[in-house]
Amino acid sequence: MSNLSAAPDKLPRHVAIIMDGNGRWAKKNKLQIAFGHRSGVETLRGIVRESSDIGIHSLSVFAFSTENWTRPDEEVRALMLLIEEFFNSQIDELHRENVIIRILGDRDNLPDGPRKAAERAELRTCDNSGLHLNIALNYGGRADIIHAAALISCSVQKGDLSLSQITEDLFSDFLSTRGLPDVDLLIRTGGEMRLSNFLLYQSAYAEFVSTNALWPEFTVEDYRNALGQFMSRDRRFGRRDHSGRNSEGEKNA
Ligand code: FPP
Repeated sequence: MSNLSAAPDKLPRHVAIIMDGNGRWAKKNKLQIAFGHRSGVETLRGIVRESSDIGIHSLSVFAFSTENWTRPDEEVRALMLLIEEFFNSQIDELHRENVIIRILGDRDNLPDGPRKAAERAELRTCDNSGLHLNIALNYGGRADIIHAAALISCSVQKGDLSLSQITEDLFSDFLSTRGLPDVDLLIRTGGEMRLSNFLLYQSAYAEFVSTNALWPEFTVEDYRNALGQFMSRDRRFGRRDHSGRNSEGEKNA
């Protein structure tokens, strides 16, 4: 097990997770898909606790994408119910754990039940000071960027902002993750190597860890392992190292 507490300054500040593999896990265990998602919620709970314990600043998880509406109605209904249940049943404990909940994505098109439960959770935890837990619901990274661009255009039109003030940092302040650090580590379970439209702008310099573990079987140990991998990587953000070579020994771009 990697010793994470030995170098707390090397921990990622912002971890994002694409929780993939619930469906395959359910199939493997001859269960209905809704049980896969339900089991995924259990995994999420453990990872949130661990993130708080370790001292991670922000954890963002992809719970429902703008593309997920195309899934069979029964699965979408099951997911919405699960999301509502999650907020209603976990809110007391998350609040006790000092977690700050934020919803990322277009909440207006969510059914009333999950939307209201999520908004109650946001309101209840907004004055906490612990882990920032961002739950992406009806979220798309491109939509996040377009929304920011529209808000900025509006401010420019009104004369509140000038073109020369538009910098990368300012742009970040108009995204759904405003005020939070960029994603340092992006974990994807289920073996795929795609970003799937998650936190596109925020992940520009994220380190990527993909694991074959399906989300319901992803353990706290696997999580610590991913954090350990992140901590052992050399992040240069496009700069040269001292030898002018990258980590593969090739001339750096
Ligand atoms: C991908 O697995 C996962 C999802 C589309 C939903 C993730 C949701 C949860 C973990 C539970 C709900 C979350 C909260 C916050 C209550 P998949 O079904 O695409 O897996 P597959 O690729 O094996 O089919």
